[in-house]
Formats: sequence, C-alpha cells, structure tokens
Amino acid sequence: MTDTLVAQQPQPDATTDLAVDVTTVYRTFDQETAPVRALRGADLTVRAGEFVAVMGPSGCGKSTMLNLVAGLDVPDEGEVMIAGESLSGKDESALAIMRRQHIGIVFQFFNLLEGMTVLENVVMPAVIAGTRRKAAESRASDLLDLLGIGDKAKQSPEVLSGGQRQRLAIARALANEPTIVLADEPTGSLDSDGGAEVLELFRRLHHGGQTILLVTHDQPVADAAGRIVLMKDGRVESDGTSVPEESST
Ligand SMILES: Nc1ncnc2c1ncn2[C@@H]1O[C@H](COP(=O)(O)OP(=O)(O)OP(=O)(O)O)[C@@H](O)[C@H]1O
Ligand SMILES: [Mg+2]
Repeated sequence: MTDTLVAQQPQPDATTDLAVDVTTVYRTFDQETAPVRALRGADLTVRAGEFVAVMGPSGCGKSTMLNLVAGLDVPDEGEVMIAGESLSGKDESALAIMRRQHIGIVFQFFNLLEGMTVLENVVMPAVIAGTRRKAAESRASDLLDLLGIGDKAKQSPEVLSGGQRQRLAIARALANEPTIVLADEPTGSLDSDGGAEVLELFRRLHHGGQTILLVTHDQPVADAAGRIVLMKDGRVESDGTSVPEESST
C-alpha cells in the first residue's frame, strides 16, 4: 500500500534537474481570416519538484504552451525538452510513449468516461500504459482513498460533485506516476468549496515532491505555487523566482 500520493520519483539526471525546458517556441495557427500567433518566442523551465503556476489574459497562449509541454502539439520553431529529452522530430507514436512515461494531464473539462466506474477511470490509463491490471487496480484504489473518493469507486462519475469530479480527474492523471502533472484551469469550473478541495490536493501533491505545472486564473491557486509565470501576447512577461520552501517540510 502506498501511503503518499506521489510515487517515488526517479532521481533527476545529474546533468539536468529540469523536468520541463521550453526554449523560444513559436506557434502560429492558420485561420481563414488571419494567422493567429499564439506563441511568439516563449521560454519556460520547471525544475523537478517545482510547483509553477502560469497566469495571463485569455488568449495569451497558456493552453497552447501546456499542449506543447504535453507533446499534444508541436512548435513551429523552438524546442521542448521533457526530463532532459528533446521532443523535436518525434513522431506521434514516440510522443505517445513520452506522454505515458512522463505526463499526467488534468484537462479543463475533466474528460471523464461516464460509461465506466470511478475506479475504471483511474485504472484504464495505467493498463493502457502497460501496467498489469491487478497492480493498476491496487494503485487506483489507493489514489481514490487518498483523494477522499474511495467510497465512490464502484459508481459512475455522474454521481460526483464538481470538486469530486476534478479530484477524480487528478487521480487519473496520477495513475501512471508521471514525472510532471499538467493542469489547465483545474478550478475553473468549480464553486468555491470545490476549488478549495482541489487547491488543497495540489498543495499535498507538491509537498509530496510532485512536479506540477498548472494554468490558472485563480489567484489563491497561483499563490499556492512556488512560482508564478505571467504570460502576455504569446511570451513570458515575468517569471517569478521560487519562494523558499517552508522549513517544516
Ligand atoms: N487549435 C487552434 N486553432 C486555431 N487557433 C487556436 C487554436 N488553439 C488556440 N488558438 C488561438 O491561439 C490563441 C491562444 O490560445 P490559448 O488557448 O493558448 O489561450 P489561453 O491563454 O489558454 O486563453 P484562455 O485563458 O482563454 O484559456 C488564441 O487566440 C486562440 O484563439
Ligand atoms: Mg486556455
């Protein structure tokens, strides 16, 4: 039985402790009317164990950046490195392998599978990644217990409250013991109780050593992060310095 939310992370490579290293990326979307220059030379690094929040006005390129880090989209120019490995030139199947090894994604609109039980929603990504079913079920049960929704394991996600649904989405993102958890507006569609539950969960993950990169419009969520990166017009406008960890942790 695991007693923490965060799996033992492999020791970072001695040559780099960067979980994420994005260098001068450009991404333009060809629209019928006019091209949209979503990213215009954006840089971002996230060290192993860091909790970084990305903020900025709507349309400034935050989700586009997150998609590049997740290997769900590729830049027109510039480079994305995950755990010391460049994504440049990787084909779709190589990117899928990278995602299975390193990335846990919490989507803005949950992407839960309503036809499956709560437990199966967490088991499935691990089984797809090649984990034996029994081991995947055991880890999924532990995650649901730790996230406070273990009693819902056999039910449909439909019975969950907004905060519980988001916690389930986070449990699913943790199923493959990812190097980094990415989250796009994880509290965006929640009421304040739901938002507080999810925020507390990210705090616990961070204290357990999980590397987290999240996009948020929510100042309390950003304040829980060690560093706030502000984006504007497709670039990083300011990159806050890490706040030292509390000495008690
Ligand atoms: N697949 C796409 N095709 C065309 N345009 C896109 C696509 N994805 C994003 N864009 C455009 O790129 C710009 C940046 O979008 P992005 O989703 O990264 O913004 P954002 O900072 O996440 O905004 P929000 O806070 O509203 O979520 C926007 O103008 C958007 O319309
Ligand atoms: Mg967005």
